Amino acid sequence: MILMKDITRDGNPVLRQVAKDLTFPLDSEYQKLATDMMAYLVNSQDPEIAKKHQLRAGVGLAAPQVGQSVSMASLLVPDDQGNIIFKETFVNPVVTSESVRLTCLSEGEGCLSVDKVIDGYVPRPYKTTIQYHQVDGTEKTIRLKGYPAIVASHEIDHLNGHLFYDRINAADPFKLAEDTVVIS
Ligand code: CO
Repeated sequence: MILMKDITRDGNPVLRQVAKDLTFPLDSEYQKLATDMMAYLVNSQDPEIAKKHQLRAGVGLAAPQVGQSVSMASLLVPDDQGNIIFKETFVNPVVTSESVRLTCLSEGEGCLSVDKVIDGYVPRPYKTTIQYHQVDGTEKTIRLKGYPAIVASHEIDHLNGHLFYDRINAADPFKLAEDTVVIS
């Protein structure tokens, strides 16, 4: 199982590389990687298992965060009651359209690969359309809005070598465009 010791941390060059696309059928190695990444997220959101294995809770995990520069990321997004509202592993995801309107989390963002707290709003598109493949090769197009769109954007950023704080306005970290949807 993936543990915190396996998570690459900011400063590791793999986090700044553009991950390479995968080909289908996926090698068993990458099928296992997808299973392991999702298992990390499931375990990390279970208070008992997370405590036992000292897992930091996560809603998304991208392959470069476990040292693999390949275009794959898992998402497990709960609502504020803890019910899962989006669960998927993206392979070779591409953002095909996104809204001009932005959204951000009122608390800012964190990342399993970034150990320190970095304050500031992280503006991202409020709505996004993503084309990707599932692990079995099925092509999908989905439209996401609000919190799941934020998580998807954060994970796809990882596949392009970006970290969340790259999107924080360095001069004024809490400055937002007027119609930004702030999610608390
Ligand atoms: Co992250």
